[in-house]
Amino acid sequence: MEACRKRYGSAFTVRLPFFGPTVIISDPAQVKQFFQTKTDVVRNVEPNLDLVLGPGSTFGLQDEAHRRRRKLLVPPFHGKRMRAYEGLVEEETLKEVATWPEGQEFAVLPSTNRITLNVILRAVFGAEGAEFDALRMVMPPLVELGSQLVFLPFLHRDLGPWSPWGRFLGLRREFDQIVESLIDRVAADPNLEQRDDVLSLMLQSRYEDGTAMSRSDLADELFTLLAAGHETTATQLAWAVERLRRHPHVLSRLVDEVDAGGSDLLQATIHEVQRNRPVIDGAARQVIAPTMPLGPWMIPHGHTVQVDIPLTHQNAYPDSERFDPDRFLGASPDMYSWVPFGGGMRRCLGAAFANMEMNVVLRTLLREFRFVPTSARPERMHSRGVAFAPKDGGRAVVYRRIRTAGSNDLPKSAHVSV
Ligand code: HEM
Repeated sequence: MEACRKRYGSAFTVRLPFFGPTVIISDPAQVKQFFQTKTDVVRNVEPNLDLVLGPGSTFGLQDEAHRRRRKLLVPPFHGKRMRAYEGLVEEETLKEVATWPEGQEFAVLPSTNRITLNVILRAVFGAEGAEFDALRMVMPPLVELGSQLVFLPFLHRDLGPWSPWGRFLGLRREFDQIVESLIDRVAADPNLEQRDDVLSLMLQSRYEDGTAMSRSDLADELFTLLAAGHETTATQLAWAVERLRRHPHVLSRLVDEVDAGGSDLLQATIHEVQRNRPVIDGAARQVIAPTMPLGPWMIPHGHTVQVDIPLTHQNAYPDSERFDPDRFLGASPDMYSWVPFGGGMRRCLGAAFANMEMNVVLRTLLREFRFVPTSARPERMHSRGVAFAPKDGGRAVVYRRIRTAGSNDLPKSAHVSV
């Protein structure tokens, strides 16, 4: 894509497997026009993630069905609700890092993966006890296999438990059984209204016609929220560690800020990690109207248009290769130049959740550990199916920080502002 941009400029057409002729854009003005295009002109690209997530997943819904579902799901993920989850994110982080080795290089990605998995299971699923343990076993292979199979639809044939699709369906059946009993338990909880987890809110929500989500839609949506929210956030956190170890000046300013109970530079750093190393490379739609105006062009019916996220970030920011959180210090990013969460009607539903989670995990890591800077070359990008991860998993060398009594408490002013 970068080579094409150098040769053809910020917009060009490529032929992609499954998606056909695809217009790649990365000019913020065109990105804005595209994300503001109405749903009678563009719809979610087909095939999309619902191939593995199920027909009840937000990803697969189009038009009115998509709008109704978003209306139901947006309130549980609203920024104002996120504070309720900060405590459990910190708890899961501390539990995971208790066994981190000192003075030896290791990859942080397996750890950040476990943290984000546990956080979603507790915050979104409301899982605990036996269900939590069972889901922790079944989810990693299910998500890994699903994200590999999503772009290989010709393998979607059930040839028994030894075929990849057969294995995927077997794991999905296990997931559905656990989730069925989880939903029964949560729905029967006499304190349902006091619960904080997203599943409880989904169970109590009603569409405009008074109906509730069906059981199979609930299961598909829970799987979606976990699949979309766990690996992405874990991978972005691994990139944060990779970036910070190579930028010791930022690292030491961050430690000072965290110790003082502030969070402005930390928020700016999260924005810059997502700009400099976005984990998802595109947000795509298909043209369903006879034509779609875009900049000086008319895009024909049936074409796919994709915002290339890394290229947009390169185009929109001067000296874009440089990792520089100060770009975002005290300023919110522009919605059409900074697009790690996509945009428009399909912008990531979990953006506020992911931001809160990255903020609390990083703040906790910086408070607990001294990260040893490195002059090693940047880690290369490596595709994990859907997300792009640091090739070596975000290598780190850490030492535990020596704290004085009482300094374990989270400074009051350090809550995430959203
Ligand atoms: C750093 C972490 C994350 C990144 C980079 C990310 C990125 C994205 C992107 C690029 C899209 C497509 C947007 C578009 O097509 O315009 C998306 C959609 C979505 N994301 Fe995220 N995401 C993250 C975390 C999460 C979390 C934590 C959740 C939920 C717990 C979540 C749930 C979803 C859902 C449900 C959609 C589909 C929205 C729709 O089609 O209406 N994501 N995400």
